[in-house]
Amino acid sequence: MTPNAKLSACFPALVAGLLLLVSYAAGNVVMTDSPNTVINIKNVEQTSNCTVCTNISGCSSETSFKLPASISVDFTCLQPQMVFTVEISREIVCTDLSCQGGVVPSDSSIYPEFNRTFNWDVKAQSGKAFQVDFLGSGMRQILSSETCPDQQTYTIVIYQRSGRVTIGTFCKDGLIRSVRLLYKGRLSLKLPGQAPMDPSAFDITVGPDIKGLAEVAVQFPLGSSNVTLFSPNFPLGFPSNDLATWSFSVPPKHNFTVVFLGSTAPQCQKKSVEVQYSGQNLGLSTSLSDPQPALRQGDFKMSLVNCEVNGGSGLSLNFAVSVSRRSSPVPCLVDLQQEKDLTLYIKKKDSTYSPCEMKVDSIIQDGITMQSGTQFNLSFQDCGSEDIMLTAIKSIDLRVCSGQKSCPADEIPLTVPTLDQCLPVPLQTITWNLQSLQGGTIELRPPAGGLKQSLAGQECGNRLFLTVRDGGGVPLGTFCPRGPLQGIKMPANASIVTTGAGSLGLSSTKESLLNVSFSQEITGKQGWPGQGFPHGGISKRCRNVLRMCVLIDEQNQWALALQ
Ligand SMILES: *[C@@H]1O[C@H](CO)[C@@H](O)[C@H](O)[C@H]1NC(C)=O
Ligand SMILES: *[C@@H]1O[C@H](CO)[C@@H](O)[C@H](O)[C@H]1NC(C)=O
Ligand SMILES: *[C@@H]1O[C@H](CO)[C@@H](O)[C@H](O)[C@H]1NC(C)=O
Ligand SMILES: *[C@@H]1O[C@H](CO)[C@@H](O)[C@H](O)[C@H]1NC(C)=O
Ligand SMILES: *[C@@H]1O[C@H](CO)[C@@H](O)[C@H](O)[C@H]1NC(C)=O
Ligand SMILES: *[C@@H]1O[C@H](CO)[C@@H](O)[C@H](O)[C@H]1NC(C)=O
Ligand SMILES: *[C@@H]1O[C@H](CO)[C@@H](O)[C@H](O)[C@H]1NC(C)=O
Ligand SMILES: *[C@@H]1O[C@H](CO)[C@@H](O)[C@H](O)[C@H]1NC(C)=O
Repeated sequence: MTPNAKLSACFPALVAGLLLLVSYAAGNVVMTDSPNTVINIKNVEQTSNCTVCTNISGCSSETSFKLPASISVDFTCLQPQMVFTVEISREIVCTDLSCQGGVVPSDSSIYPEFNRTFNWDVKAQSGKAFQVDFLGSGMRQILSSETCPDQQTYTIVIYQRSGRVTIGTFCKDGLIRSVRLLYKGRLSLKLPGQAPMDPSAFDITVGPDIKGLAEVAVQFPLGSSNVTLFSPNFPLGFPSNDLATWSFSVPPKHNFTVVFLGSTAPQCQKKSVEVQYSGQNLGLSTSLSDPQPALRQGDFKMSLVNCEVNGGSGLSLNFAVSVSRRSSPVPCLVDLQQEKDLTLYIKKKDSTYSPCEMKVDSIIQDGITMQSGTQFNLSFQDCGSEDIMLTAIKSIDLRVCSGQKSCPADEIPLTVPTLDQCLPVPLQTITWNLQSLQGGTIELRPPAGGLKQSLAGQECGNRLFLTVRDGGGVPLGTFCPRGPLQGIKMPANASIVTTGAGSLGLSSTKESLLNVSFSQEITGKQGWPGQGFPHGGISKRCRNVLRMCVLIDEQNQWALALQ
């Protein structure tokens, strides 16, 4: 009987086709674009006599074939997925630059209803390393005897001259970001029937050179977290005279502590077992029974170095690293009940990488807006001026002058508000929004010492500077303290942005920065030239600053901002 005749005799039977051509008809034509892949289909139920049949090798309890191929595959029973498992193996060869033949999306449609094991057999250039990157949510390590809760278990082994070494067994969702491996190894993924294979869960790339068997990279997030790790081949012996490394990335302003949970020591013929630590703030060698680093800071690497082993139970180590913030949150009650028309803004400069945590009423926020008139219950943890910006906007209504030819002599001082000491950074910038009537002039008078104009791009050395903007936000000019100018006149509605330099911000500025007043005198095009200047005529020094002209009078004492 030819295989085909037998198939016809046995069916109607279930046919599981390869790849996208899943079909339940006999004699299915099978095509695939999965390159260089070996498929093994095996009956794992001793009690079942169900066989798998191909038009190349006939029927048996197990078959293997290499893709790409056009093969017809059938089973002699219904529901073969209850009896057979499928193993899908692919070779990945790395050059100096890249690793070719990796995961392809169509792999996820190979026999999806069967229990599958995917094997990626990776070979780097001689003496070089390759790297498995766990993308997305990372991985955590489990004992090789355990299975993952989602039944999707990853295993990494490498092949050494001395034999096979299991680097670890891993489940989704954890702090392990990558594993670097020397020369030749296998990444396996066990998937139960129906579970989808996620081709984007990891990537295989050329690794930087490593020392020893493997380097497992762990990245801790901000806040409290911990990781549990096992030495290669755990609980059996670590290879003689070899080493493995774990590298840990610890966020700034966090403490880490290493704890050995369990270990076995080998009988050493030569040398001794060592645990070596290196890092920004750490250079240390310990034994398995020594205390390990506690409450230390910064990124670090830990290497487990075996001796030349003389039989015995072998070296094994199970350890944990826990990380937590170094400080505790500092409460800060900001009281703006006495302030008027003031809004404070606190914003994180970079919400991803900063260790700073701000809370309003115990809820974490990346930005806080506080209007005057009430109180705010904040807390700050690890927030410095490199992490957050504190700015303020104050509105001042000059329209009280309405109806009068010239405004009253009373000038309104612009002073930097005194904020609660508990705020972790000083006020960086305050913007005064001055509202006035149409067609008048706002006069700004600096206190003794005067002002000087700063031409585009030049700031005021290490001191604060003022930027004057019109009502539409267009900058009219930038001014520094100390200079010949005794005042600035400008058209109605304006804002004055004062920015403090350096880490002190505006905190050291106690006295009034400017006095502001409003008059109905006309400046601007209608009044030009000369009007509005106490000293009459204008010098022809028209200093072009962005879209406007700043005119300085003959005695160099007044600036007139024209639009
Ligand atoms: C097996 O069957 C497929 C589909 O019918 C066909 O394309 C292929 O040529 C067959 N191979 C052999 C060796 O008969
Ligand atoms: C499989 O085994 C059952 C008994 O377990 C038997 O009745 C049946 O004929 C066998 N089928 C084949 C194809 O050998
Ligand atoms: C498939 O996997 C499940 C769970 O992982 C297991 O219970 C079942 O026995 C397996 N079936 C086969 C045919 O291997
Ligand atoms: C480790 O982290 C888990 C949660 O991720 C927590 O439940 C456990 O208490 C932590 N263990 C230690 C020792 O900090
Ligand atoms: C972090 O470590 C430092 C010493 O390095 C210690 O003073 C501080 O209390 C530790 N913080 C926590 C939260 O354990
Ligand atoms: C601020 O919050 C803390 C903790 O959430 C609370 O104990 C305190 O009473 C609050 N203070 C005010 C003024 O709301
Ligand atoms: C100035 O601002 C006020 C309030 O925003 C507005 O009512 C007024 O029209 C503005 N005046 C000018 C000249 O733009
Ligand atoms: C600013 O105004 C205050 C009164 O509000 C006055 O005492 C002070 O002399 C003024 N300063 C200048 C430079 O005009």
